Amino acid sequence: MPSKHKVATTDELTDGSRVITEINGQEIAVFQIDGEYHAIANYCVHQAGPLCEGKLTGETYVEDNGWDWNYDDDEKHITCPWHGWLFDVTNGENIHNSKYKVPTYNVEIENESIFVVR
Ligand code: FES
Repeated sequence: MPSKHKVATTDELTDGSRVITEINGQEIAVFQIDGEYHAIANYCVHQAGPLCEGKLTGETYVEDNGWDWNYDDDEKHITCPWHGWLFDVTNGENIHNSKYKVPTYNVEIENESIFVVR
């Protein structure tokens, strides 16, 4: 049965920051992005690298006209430090192929404390 585990307070986890902790033998990172909290396993599905120790970035994309490039500076993509695979921390999916997905966890806020449900 899942239980709640306190990982930080809302004051400690500022926008764009993360905390990595171990819960029941699994390293889990919680990110705060634009006021929302997202928890994913600190485990890359490529070759088990420490995914959440990587850099958070935005996304380069091509406009609908198929010609113009643009950069979305909403920094929600984590780059695995081992071989550079990119995942969206809001849903755990690899940004190039959604069949590669990192486990995600529910996050609850109570009295300015952040809990991961696992
Ligand atoms: S282990 Fe993460 S990209 Fe290879």
